[in-house]
Amino acid sequence: MPKDLELEFIGRTYDDFLFRPQQSVVATRGEVSLRTRLTRALELALPVVSANMDSVTGAHMAKTLALEGGLGFIHRGMPVVAQADKVRDVKRSHGYVVEQPFTLPRTATLREAHELVVDKGFSALIEESPGSGILAGLLTARDIPWFDVDETRKVEEFMTPLARLHVGPPDIGLEKAEQLLFENRIEKLPLIDRDHRIRGLITKQDVILHHHRPQVSTDQKGRLRVGAAIGATGDFLERADALVEAGVDVLLIDIAHGHSDVMQRAVEGFRARHADVPLICGNVGTAEGARFLADLGADAVKVGIGPGRGCRTRIETGAGVPQLQAVRETWCALGEELPIIADGGVRQDKDIFLALVCGASSVMLGSVLSGTDEAPGTLIEDPASGHKMKIYRGMTSPQAVFQALYESDEDPAEDAFDTPPEGQEIQVPYRGSVIDIVQRIRGHLRSAVSYAGARSLEEARGAIVQDPLRYLIPLTEASRRESYER
Ligand code: XMP
Repeated sequence: MPKDLELEFIGRTYDDFLFRPQQSVVATRGEVSLRTRLTRALELALPVVSANMDSVTGAHMAKTLALEGGLGFIHRGMPVVAQADKVRDVKRSHGYVVEQPFTLPRTATLREAHELVVDKGFSALIEESPGSGILAGLLTARDIPWFDVDETRKVEEFMTPLARLHVGPPDIGLEKAEQLLFENRIEKLPLIDRDHRIRGLITKQDVILHHHRPQVSTDQKGRLRVGAAIGATGDFLERADALVEAGVDVLLIDIAHGHSDVMQRAVEGFRARHADVPLICGNVGTAEGARFLADLGADAVKVGIGPGRGCRTRIETGAGVPQLQAVRETWCALGEELPIIADGGVRQDKDIFLALVCGASSVMLGSVLSGTDEAPGTLIEDPASGHKMKIYRGMTSPQAVFQALYESDEDPAEDAFDTPPEGQEIQVPYRGSVIDIVQRIRGHLRSAVSYAGARSLEEARGAIVQDPLRYLIPLTEASRRESYER
């Protein structure tokens, strides 16, 4: 049920409140679950996603965040093919189903098999004839003689033939595959269809990895999850087609002002082609904007008008909504109907917890993640001080706009340089691996849940989100100084 925004949130943002500590019931903070919803149907073990910015999220950031239980949105400041390749790169990097296993024809020689199977340690599925895709057998390192042998002999002499192999159907579930691997004491399970066409390979090693890291954001095939931004005009529909084809898990129509006719046309165009692909829309900062996106059929709403560090919208236009007000206001409009992603303005880890208990289900981070090894961009070292820095820039900064146009495979629109920038470039300190940052955030969120008197983020949020003001202490200038000045 929509409810009215509480007056106390008007004009307020993260540094305006402290959370009133509750009696803790947590024995071990490590056990506190931070599971949350990213969209109507997608869940994450960690409520953190990385911003679709060219100084934040490429394939490396997306892989690392997914392994940590979050998710990365690949930015769109590049040609369609390049962005789709980055999605493919993430999807291929892990997973218990190897979708395109290495193959060799049965007439290949031992010499041809050697590098792939012995040196690199991959197993090869053997095809009946070159390129036929029909499974004839399996060749692993154990099948190749380690003693001197005529290397022109054919692999068909050494492979385990199909008749002696255990195989599974292409849509086999993880549990069934594990059962087959265990019961038959095998390491590899080729997947084939009724015509014996090769459709994938499951390896015991990948299945075990999957068990050891239950927090990893994976799809049904155990592949890492990844998102990507598409925009709302120009080639955005072809971009969407290519990204869906590459296996993207969730798309994001991201425009500065999402409460707009441009957004409506974009969503309608998108839904006509991809009715079932999870779609996040943004950005909005008001109750009306959130309702508008929900009615258009978004699967989650991204909230934030001008709080980002690379952002000049408020300075240049005077338009914007203080970020905690925006989160609260949009939650009051939507309740739990749709998840809200609080995008921008997070500087301290405590901001994340405040966003979550006031209505967001996850946060999108830009600058916090940008000084890391996993963010695109090179390290800059100040020769005088020796300080290491990286570039962080708004996607409408002149530098990012110029780069996107330079890389684009299209001619720039005539007015490409007419719109003055609403973003800026800054240098941020180099922070090493993003894994350290994510671990710190995870630890601080678990502590915050404990201070909230709950056993999990879901429980804390459930108790607080209906009436956060019961738990929040508004700060004066003096108490803010006492809290944050060190
Ligand atoms: P943080 O505070 O995490 O914010 O660095 C990241 C978010 O900033 C937004 N963004 C922009 N906003 N002009 C803007 O008005 C820009 O050029 C710009 N670039 C990024 C975006 O929502 C991102 O997730």
